[in-house]
Amino acid sequence: MDHFRYRGSELCAEDVPLSRIAREVGTPAFVYSSAAFEGRLSAFDRAFAGVPHLVCYSVKVASNLALLAKVARAGLGADIVSGGELFRALRAGIPAGKVVFSGVGKTAAEIAEALEAGIMMFNVESGPELDLISRIARDKGKRAPVALRVNPDVDPGTHPYVATGLKESKFGVPIGEALGLYARARDDAALEAVGLDCHIGSQLTSVSPFVAAVGRLKALLASLAGQGVKVRFLDLGGGLGITYDAETPPGPAEYAEEIVRAVGREDLVLVLEPGRVVAGNSCVLLVGVLYEKVTPEKRFVVTDGAMNDLIRPSLYGAFHGIVPVAENGGVPSPANVVGPVCESGDFLAKDRPLPPVGPGDLLAVRSAGAYGFSMSSNYNSRPRSAEVLVEGASFRVIRARETREDLIRGENI
Ligand code: LLP
Repeated sequence: MDHFRYRGSELCAEDVPLSRIAREVGTPAFVYSSAAFEGRLSAFDRAFAGVPHLVCYSVKVASNLALLAKVARAGLGADIVSGGELFRALRAGIPAGKVVFSGVGKTAAEIAEALEAGIMMFNVESGPELDLISRIARDKGKRAPVALRVNPDVDPGTHPYVATGLKESKFGVPIGEALGLYARARDDAALEAVGLDCHIGSQLTSVSPFVAAVGRLKALLASLAGQGVKVRFLDLGGGLGITYDAETPPGPAEYAEEIVRAVGREDLVLVLEPGRVVAGNSCVLLVGVLYEKVTPEKRFVVTDGAMNDLIRPSLYGAFHGIVPVAENGGVPSPANVVGPVCESGDFLAKDRPLPPVGPGDLLAVRSAGAYGFSMSSNYNSRPRSAEVLVEGASFRVIRARETREDLIRGENI
């Protein structure tokens, strides 16, 4: 169910008109629906109810503490890729024992921090990283729980920037090297091989690449058993896509059913790291129109939201639906929706049919919850947007709009 709907001619988030949020908080603002986020999180978790599993929400996707607190309250875990994300997850109340730590460039300090916290497992991405984890664990008199993130060399059929499981990608260890590394871990008293992991990409709209990856992982598990390594966790990463435009990805139930069938065993705890499918369509970016600028070539709608707020259109050519907050019945014509940033690459949409708009009108940029605020920046010395959480008929600011002073914090003349 879409929690962003028109009531009469007014677009609302749950029961709150977006115009009210704009009036009280200003624009641009990321507006999350609590019911949408919680509903998608629990639907994903329920989809795997038939097998032992742990859902570890991918913190990088949308990492506000208020959202992470929902993950904690649902009893779920976190997928992190930095010490900063560990800090956030713990601060929000997610137990360290439900945290998995991925990433090709974990620093010694981050590894030490995660070991001290007692995370569930390190998803290790190279031999040198395995050695460093071992050394740090030994120094601390601890045993580090590790999984190898293997690169199954499967084409996820997504944008090249978000495909991670191809053999030319920087992620994971080549599947052919995994056996040797597991043997090293088995013979190292400072390491405990507890899992096997992969993450093949993001915004997948078909289950078949996941199933292909599972096939390769199962073959590896069989070889591992042959050399005396028996792991408890099979982590399949995140990656399930959502509808931005006309995509028709499988829902969590279909995805889970096919994965569970492909895995075909119940002695393993499945670990899933969804992000986009939970947060993506749970949020809109609310922007205000500054000007309509018509040149002989183009119609531009200039908004106060820009590429520093939502970089996905500029970086990936990504499509985000854009709708007026107040329907005015005007005849749509194509427009480039652009921001104030000094780059021609600063656009939210190109040649998008939009009704006539004028200064002060509001637009909602849809599907902005995943990699929206979390990828935003201060480029052009633009304070980052407010984040707002709507719950039924009320709303609250879960991250204040940055101030001018925030912009220069830590700088010295
Ligand atoms: N696990 C790992 C190890 C990951 O690297 C990622 C995403 C996820 C889980 C979550 O994947 P999801 O369920 O959200 O697809 N900024 C890009 C997407 C980058 C994906 C990075 N890794 C975008 O805006 O499309």
